[in-house]
Amino acid sequence: DVQKQDYVQRIKQLLKARNATLVAHYYTDPEIQALAEETGGCISDSLEMARYGRDCDADTLIVAGVRFMGETAKILSPEKTVLMPTLEATCSLDLGCPIDKFSAFCDAHPDHTVVVYANTSAAVKARADWVVTSSIALEVVEHLDAMGEKIIWGPDRHLGNYIAKQTGADMLMWQGECIVHDEFSAKALSDMKHLHPDAAILVHPESPASVVDMADAVGSTTQLINASRTMPNDKFIVATDRGIFYKMQQLEPSKTFLEAPTGGNGATCKSCAHCPWMAMNGLVAIHDALTDNSGHEIFVDAQLREKALIPLNRMLDFSA
Ligand code: 13P
Ligand code: SF4
Repeated sequence: DVQKQDYVQRIKQLLKARNATLVAHYYTDPEIQALAEETGGCISDSLEMARYGRDCDADTLIVAGVRFMGETAKILSPEKTVLMPTLEATCSLDLGCPIDKFSAFCDAHPDHTVVVYANTSAAVKARADWVVTSSIALEVVEHLDAMGEKIIWGPDRHLGNYIAKQTGADMLMWQGECIVHDEFSAKALSDMKHLHPDAAILVHPESPASVVDMADAVGSTTQLINASRTMPNDKFIVATDRGIFYKMQQLEPSKTFLEAPTGGNGATCKSCAHCPWMAMNGLVAIHDALTDNSGHEIFVDAQLREKALIPLNRMLDFSA
């Protein structure tokens, strides 16, 4: 519509004028991903968002995603101005892992290596030995396990349990979950599979074990997109945020992508395959952030930043 197009035009001008780049996650709404693409920014998973934000030569990054992604960008690029459409966009994993409690958990097991998912606050990262995203979590834990290390894993228990099962590593789990993936239902998925026997099932490992067990491919957003390209099926049932369909459909226009079912129905489920915090990244909010930094800019305490940089760099070096 005309008003949207108007915002898109103004955002494009502002991005140019400020030498700013839009970095968007695959879970944001299609119009945001399209804008990132059109303006030479990037759409990617959380690992590549971090790397891209660090390596691009923009003065300002506008991070369309959730809070931890903005904080990670700022930790890696303190010289850049990092803006978010809204600072309210959080994550249930981050909310469910407050630093005081997590730190006490770590203190109680001092002989363990602390590995945290990127979906955490800067303070939790600063307490960790390693930060990982779902793209490399398995490899990092395999590596640590091979060195005989015992691991504290937080905060996503489903991802942690999946990795423990795959690697056999000794892992103490923090009990957090993603409200979006936690709602996928194995029973409803099995009913759906009967209706679409030719469809391959793609599952993000933040989903419950019973759903992961039904998967033909398990992986991070990038890995699921790759699977949708390389697998011979014409149809896929996808258990992750529906924002991912933008890229899947763009890369494979002739294939069919179906949203995996949640346990509740539209009236009862909290998130229904779309993260409510990712959904806060709208055109108006991006425009407002680029017009006036205040209330949109990410700051990270200098001491925390220095500490959180160590495990973040470990992740980036490991995955390089
Ligand atoms: P990635 O698989 O893209 O790393 O991210 C998962 C996620 O839940 C981000 O919110
Ligand atoms: Fe957090 Fe889940 Fe939303 Fe990702 S999809 S930001 S893990 S609540």
